Order: sequence, then structure tokens, then C-alpha cells
Amino acid sequence: MIDLSEVQRIVVKPHATPRLDIAFLRVADRSGMASFLQRAIGHVTYANTPPDEAGFHVAISGAGIGVLEVGTRITAALPPTFLEGMRAAARRLGDRPEVLDTPFRHDEGPIHAAVIRVEGGSERRPAPDVPFPFLGEDDEVAGTWVGHRRDAIGSEPFGFADGVTDPVIAGVPGREHVEPGNGIWDAANRRWRAVATGEAVLGHADEVGAIAGHPDAALIERDSSYLVIRRLRQDVQAFDEACADLADATGLDSEQVAEQIVGRKRSGAPLGDATGNDFLYRSGDRPRSDAPPTAHIRRANPRDDLTRADVITPRHQLFRRGLPYKAQEGDEGLLFLAVCADLRRQFEFVQARWLQDGTRLGLGVEPDGLTGRRPEPAPGPAAVDRPAPDDALYGRVSTRAIDGGRVGRSLASFVTPTGGEYFLLPGRGALSYLLGCSLG
Ligand code: HEM
Repeated sequence: MIDLSEVQRIVVKPHATPRLDIAFLRVADRSGMASFLQRAIGHVTYANTPPDEAGFHVAISGAGIGVLEVGTRITAALPPTFLEGMRAAARRLGDRPEVLDTPFRHDEGPIHAAVIRVEGGSERRPAPDVPFPFLGEDDEVAGTWVGHRRDAIGSEPFGFADGVTDPVIAGVPGREHVEPGNGIWDAANRRWRAVATGEAVLGHADEVGAIAGHPDAALIERDSSYLVIRRLRQDVQAFDEACADLADATGLDSEQVAEQIVGRKRSGAPLGDATGNDFLYRSGDRPRSDAPPTAHIRRANPRDDLTRADVITPRHQLFRRGLPYKAQEGDEGLLFLAVCADLRRQFEFVQARWLQDGTRLGLGVEPDGLTGRRPEPAPGPAAVDRPAPDDALYGRVSTRAIDGGRVGRSLASFVTPTGGEYFLLPGRGALSYLLGCSLG
């Protein structure tokens, strides 16, 4: 069981928040971090707080851990992916440094901490003028992001309901019920089950029965999680145009094309006869979704759609906590937040091995039609000497179809990551320990 008073609320208690505020901080040195932590620590919201109240979260980056001087034994036990940060992961993630916005441009210094305000689900007050009352003049706020829920179904800017799938974490008191689809399909027992605690919260047993995290880092990993924060700009016009192009080429209408790319209807309903979130891709045990193997949701969480899915799928779960943003005309997208226990095995694997490159899914190097980064379209007519697409495998809508020469090379990238960082979301004990380190 998780002790709810130890784990930051955003890890285990998602809810349909109307608004997220994030501030990214740089500190000058260890005493700057001490000053910030001393002011912030009393405001951190743990999972024993009702979800309808506003919550504050404090997250520390690898660079922030460096400033804190937590000791070589702990540092050596922390994952290099976290310590090196998201910039170092650019190649693995397919990110382009030249499109990063402040405060994540490569000519800017590292971010040491993030504070997140999650507006209460039932809050009726207008958003506060000062979202973080505990930040002071000493804190260098290098950047702020604001996310808003757009409508009742929580649609993202392409117009599809998001946050439909929300895997249940085992051992969370009061959240024992696993809604169909919101967990792992247990084929042997023909039921949906929760994801092992250690896939989201360190210091607890994970899907292979190991205690998540490194024993030497337990002082700061216990009851903590890793958090991915990324801003993903969405080119809505390009997406709509590509759907219209593909509609001409495939004989579907553009709405059906968009549904095939996402793998759901705009309302969030599955494709085919299935209802709700209770569907699989292969097994006849549950209603089967008609989403093609290339669809975003099928690639991001293949459910039973893999050989040895029972072993593989549970190890690559993500607990998404983001919201859409709209900064200005032409700059909108998702503030993608994902909680996990292992940045490399969970977030980076899904991003790089399932979404950006389909080889492991039997899809060749074709990237995800929704989020994948594709090379700039080549000028001139498309090559015509490629083999015809295998419609049975790829569905009727895929970049293969485009490469097959039917609609030219019009499918561009619709999603551009413009910045972000990896953070540790410390549990209560871990945060106290970090404060102690900062005070020397
Ligand atoms: C701007 C970029 C993105 C958009 C517009 C987008 C959109 C969507 C939509 C509409 C859904 C279906 C609703 C749902 O099941 O919650 C979904 C599901 C999902 N997405 Fe994304 N997504 C984006 C980026 C990503 C990224 C970068 C990842 C992971 C690295 C990801 C992972 C997932 C997962 C795990 C699911 C749940 C699939 C399932 O369990 O059935 N998404 N996304």
C-alpha cells in the first residue's frame, strides 16, 4: 500500500483539472536552492489531500540535484538519463535543438527546479494573479507555462478527447477499482488489473517484483517518481490539410482519416464495435478495436498487440498528467506531463521505440502518424518505385500509403517538441532530505 501522505498528489490522483501552471526555476547556488525549498516545502500537496482542492508540486531536475550536493554515493546511484537531462536525450527522442524555445534553448543555463500548480477540479475562483505565492524575489523564474482544459471532453488541439486512458496504480487506497482499459489486461484471469505500484512510485515493487529505484538512492527516491515535462507544439492546420489530402487518396472522408491516425473517434470512443475503453487488439476476450496497427493509441500502448504482451506492455506504462496550452495564435499544443519510475524504460522507450520508430511493432521505420517526426517533404514528385503498401498491416492511412506515391509527400510532422526537462517528484521524506542537503 502507498502511504498517501508521502507521495505527491499529481502522481496518483489525477483529475480533470481545468488549469495547470508551471514555473521553471534557476538557482544561483546551493543556498539559493535552500531558500526556495524552505519556502516551498510547506505548500507541497500530497495524495491525502482531496483532489478538488488546488495543489502545488515541487520537482527537482538532475542539474538541481547537482546543485544540492547530495553526495557521491547517491548521485552514482541515480539514473544518468535523469542527471544528464532532456537535452542530452535529444537524439534518442528525435528532438531538434534549433526549435527549442526559452527557457530550454541550448544557449541557456540548465533549469534546476519546477513548481506546478494544479487547479482544483471544483475550484470556482478565478485563477490567482500570483499562482505561486511562495516564490520570492530570490527565485529566478526562467519561464512559465500555462495549460487549460479546453472543453468538457478534455480535447487536445487536433480535436480529440485526451486523457481517456488513465492506468490505475496498484496500492492506492480508495482507487482499487480498475475501470476496463485503465490498467493491464490479465489474460490468464480475463480481467483488467492495476499497474504495479513500482511502475509509478519508487521504493515499491514493480511489474517484475523488484523494488523500483536504486537502494543507494533510497533517501531521495523512496515514494518519489520521475516526471517528464515537455511542450509539444501542434500544427493543427497541417494536420487538417493532411487528413483532407489522405481522404482524397484513400476514399475515406477526412474525419475517418483523422480517426485512423489517432485510433479513436473525437469523442474518445473506440473504433469499431467496442464501447468505452474496454477493448483489445488481438484477443477475442474483449471487444476488439478497429484501430489500425499504425494508430497513435495502439502504438503508445499496444495492450495485447504484441507477442508476450503480458510481459512487455506492463513495463512501458505512462501516467499522463498534462493539459493543452495556447500561448498565442499559431502556438498551441500539449503540455505533456508523464509520471513514471524509469525514464528510459517507460517514457523514452514509448517515445523512441514505439512512436518514433515502428520496427519493434512490425511497422518498419515508419513514425507515428500523429506525433512522429518525419523528414521534411522532398521537393518534386514522390518516388513511384516503392512496393505498394500492405493495407492489411498498415491500415488504409499511413505514411506508407504516401510513400507509395498516391498523395505525394504531403504528410509532414504535426508535432514539434519545443522544450522540456526530466524531474524528480520527491516524496515527503525525500523532499525533507533534499532540504537538509541544501542547508549543508
Ligand atoms: C501533441 C502530441 C500528442 C497528441 C495530440 C496526443 C493525443 C492523444 C490522444 C487523442 C489519445 C487518446 C485518448 C486517450 O487514450 O487518452 C492519446 C493516447 C495516448 N497517448 Fe498521446 N498524444 C500526443 C503525444 C503523446 C506522446 C509524446 C506520448 C508518449 C511518449 C503519448 C502517449 C499516449 C498514451 C500512452 C496514450 C494512451 C493509449 C491507450 O492506452 O489506449 N502521447 N494521445
